[in-house]
Amino acid sequence: MAGNRTLTIIKPDAFGSGKAGKIIAHLEGAGFRVVAARVTHLSEAEAGAFYQVHRERPFYRSLVSFMTSGACMPMVLERDDAVAALRSTIGATDPAEAAAGTVRKLFAESKERNAIHASDSDENATRESGFFFSETELVRAR
Ligand code: CMP
Repeated sequence: MAGNRTLTIIKPDAFGSGKAGKIIAHLEGAGFRVVAARVTHLSEAEAGAFYQVHRERPFYRSLVSFMTSGACMPMVLERDDAVAALRSTIGATDPAEAAAGTVRKLFAESKERNAIHASDSDENATRESGFFFSETELVRAR
């Protein structure tokens, strides 16, 4: 995956409360194209593996529990400078600290139930995209 793609997840808080459509519209308004998408309900093993990097953090068990509490929507997004652009579009981890107009300021509930995930580097975007999608599932955006 090139530097123009990144992985996002509309998390169970936002997906379960019917905010997926508004969030996707917001992302498209910021110039992203959806090149792969799926609705899934993560198992504990899947959520634990996805967030392995946080396994020593105090919030890890709670995060895995939240991420398995309902369906979510992983997507691969395409845009110039995708990783940095998406992180700026979604805002700070804690919605209380997120800038006005960002996805988390608009839709998140708390630092944990924060509506949306975004890869933090090109390397992790590639790894996280591969976690959910095979190369043949990635549509070439026009
Ligand atoms: P995300 O961008 O998916 O990356 C890791 C997630 O862990 C983060 O969003 C939050 O959902 C959660 N998280 C990060 N820091 C905390 C914290 N201090 N307390 C609870 N959850 C957190």
